Amino acid sequence: MASIEVPITDCLEAAIAASKEAGAILQKYAQQGFHVEHKGLINLVTDADRAVEQRIIDYLTSRFSSHRFLAEERGHANEGDSPYLWIIDPLDGTTNFAHGFPVYCISIGLEYRGSCVLGVIFDPSRDELFTATQGGGAFLNGHQLQVTEIDVLDRSLLVTGFAYDIRETDDNNLNHFARFALRAQGIRRTGSAALDLCYVAAGRFDGFWEVKLNPWDMAAGSVIVREAGGQVTNFQGQALSVCGHNLVASNGRIHQAMLAVLNETEPRRSL
Ligand code: IPD
Ligand code: CA
Ligand code: CA
Repeated sequence: MASIEVPITDCLEAAIAASKEAGAILQKYAQQGFHVEHKGLINLVTDADRAVEQRIIDYLTSRFSSHRFLAEERGHANEGDSPYLWIIDPLDGTTNFAHGFPVYCISIGLEYRGSCVLGVIFDPSRDELFTATQGGGAFLNGHQLQVTEIDVLDRSLLVTGFAYDIRETDDNNLNHFARFALRAQGIRRTGSAALDLCYVAAGRFDGFWEVKLNPWDMAAGSVIVREAGGQVTNFQGQALSVCGHNLVASNGRIHQAMLAVLNETEPRRSL
C-alpha cells in the first residue's frame, strides 16, 4: 500500500488530543479506583493502563488508518508498510499511579522512517503538556523550553530510575547511582522516565541516565530534550536508538562528564 504523507502539524494536533483524553481517563480511574495486576514481583499494570492505551490507539487509528503502532501493553499493532510508527506508553509511572503518588504521564512519540520526529507527554496531575516536533522546538503548555547552562557535575541535579529486574541482576544501575551520588549536587528518582526527560528539557534537571529503558519510555521524551537544546545518546555517546535500552540525556554541557562516570570501570572508594 502506498504511504500517505501527513503534515507533522496534523500528527501533533492528534497526539495532543489523544493525550488530553487519555489524561482525563487516567484521572477518572485515579479518583474512582482501579484494578492492579502483577506482571512481575514489583512490575505492576492496572486496568487504567490498558483502557488508556486502547483509547489512544483507537483515536490515532481513526485519524491515520495506515499508521503502525508500538504500545507497551499491546506490543505491535496495525502492522503494514507505513513509514509512520507511533510509540506509546499509556501510563509512564504505573507504580506511582498505583500508590496515589501523582507523578505519572502519557507518552506518545512518532517515528517517521525510523527517526523520532514528534513527542507529546502529558502530566494530568499538573496539567502540564510537553510537546516537540523535529526542528520546531520544545514547549511546555505553549512556552518554549530550553535546557540549563550548568557545566559541571558538582552543580548538577541529576535524575535516574531502576528497571523492574533490579533484584535479579548486577546490571541494575546501582553502580552508576553510587558514583553519581558522589559527583552530583543531588540525585532524584521520580518514577517516570518520560517526565525525567521532560524535566531535563524544562531545566528542572541537568541530566538523566537510565539502563534498560524500553522504546515507549524514550521515544517522545528524546525529541523533547533535543528540541530544547539538549543532547540524548547511548552510554558510548552515540546517537540514541529507542531500541538500545541505555540512555543519557543532558543539557549538553555536562554530557561528556556523565559519559565518563558511566564508563568508569574501577569502583570509586571516596572523594
Ligand atoms: C517505568 C518508569 C520508571 C523507570 C522504569 C520504567 P512504567 O515505566 O518510567 O521511571 O525507572 O524503568 O519501566 O512501568 O511506569 O511505564
Ligand atoms: Ca514506562
Ligand atoms: Ca507504562
